[in-house]
Amino acid sequence: MATRAPVIAIDGPSASGKGTIASRVAKRLGFHYLESGALYRLIALISLREGTSDETQLARLAAEMDVVFNDGEIVLVDEAVTEKIRSEPVGIRASEVAKLPALRQALLTRQRAFRRSPGLVADGRDMGTVVFPDAELKVFLTATPEIRAERRYKQLIEKGIDANLRALSRDLRDRDERDAKRAVAPLVPAPDSQVLDSSALSIDEVADRIVGWSLEKKLGGSVGS
Ligand code: C5P
Repeated sequence: MATRAPVIAIDGPSASGKGTIASRVAKRLGFHYLESGALYRLIALISLREGTSDETQLARLAAEMDVVFNDGEIVLVDEAVTEKIRSEPVGIRASEVAKLPALRQALLTRQRAFRRSPGLVADGRDMGTVVFPDAELKVFLTATPEIRAERRYKQLIEKGIDANLRALSRDLRDRDERDAKRAVAPLVPAPDSQVLDSSALSIDEVADRIVGWSLEKKLGGSVGS
């Protein structure tokens, strides 16, 4: 009987560092990586461009969109959208469309298709609760709202994107609230998750801890730095 590929689910609020940490852990373990937020951001980009928030239409787009993830690059039809989906307006629209149950349902199959040998590290809001409830390791990554706003601010400035710390803090708070209060797949730690507060930890320290937990559970083969 074929054994399922193991999954490490890393969930948490916006700007908690999930993406950086999850891709680093995936690399060190030699696992595939799913950034589920990018799927919601892709739909948000389409929603903004087409000026529609219609649930049925967006769910159909979610099921049918022609998107390729290639080593950190995201191509929608023939357009490179890796940077375009990172803007704040797209992030805000993403958390609005993410409330739509039919859209979330349509993305389930796509997300689960990333589970391939030798294993998957998946980051998002509902990886451990809804998409991969049988994940071998579940981590809920947090940081204080102030630290998260500062991290997001630095990220944007480094990319040459204009940002305002106060407006960012407000957007993050609103987004957290929408994500935590929505009826379907709200942002909550899975009961069997390890909660990790990264406020006072470096990226390397957080990654080391998660790789350590993975190895304790005998997940992953190639472990580099
Ligand atoms: O992780 P990221 O900030 O890119 O996600 C953008 C938005 O997509 C989140 O604010 C959230 O509303 C939504 N999302 C979600 N479930 C996921 C990943 C992202 O609802 N698994």
